[in-house]
Amino acid sequence: MRVVVLISGRGSNLQAILEAVAAGTLPVMVAGVISNNPGARGLAHARDAGIPVAVIDHHDYARRDDFEAALMQAIDAWAPGLVVLAGFMRILGPGFIRRYHGRLMNIHPSLLPALPGLRTHERALEERHREHGATVHFVVDQVDGGPVIAQVRVPVQPDDTAASLEARVLAEEHRLYPRVIRWFAEGRLSLHAGTVMLDGAPVAQVQR
Ligand code: GRF
Repeated sequence: MRVVVLISGRGSNLQAILEAVAAGTLPVMVAGVISNNPGARGLAHARDAGIPVAVIDHHDYARRDDFEAALMQAIDAWAPGLVVLAGFMRILGPGFIRRYHGRLMNIHPSLLPALPGLRTHERALEERHREHGATVHFVVDQVDGGPVIAQVRVPVQPDDTAASLEARVLAEEHRLYPRVIRWFAEGRLSLHAGTVMLDGAPVAQVQR
């Protein structure tokens, strides 16, 4: 299965995906990586792995529709079966989301529906959550609101800072995202009428 990964910054999830592919544990081909940010550090991970990159800078487009049209054109040129958002920091419009319905996923650093949006680690501490984590979800037209595929839970420690909590969550993200992408590539995972199906059953009922 061909996969296109969209990033905006550091690209550590992209790097985890590339490492899993290189290790033979993730049976996909990363056909291309796209960043909306020309300075994204993650672009170097793609280049180092010999993967084609495209920069589509949203500043170059007056209207969001035009930016997204360029984005869709670049994605479709790589004919992916799956589009993976990995720290992609632009909100995507309904036309984009409709086009990739059921084959567009995102990773978010919280236990959704708790803590959508930004600064999740700081907010988990401010709000004294005892548990934090990360979520992989299909993207539907609702920010951080799509149907959940899988979550990983991380206990909050009394001495945690936002940085220490982020580091532990991020390490889990790097295990979770390649695993979920593998399910999809193996044909085990799909979105049917708003319900996430894994191995033929609604995902909430699957024990992992
Ligand atoms: C991750 O925490 C991810 O959950 C969120 O943005 C961050 C991206 O980090 N969507 P990286 O660019 O993959 O290192």
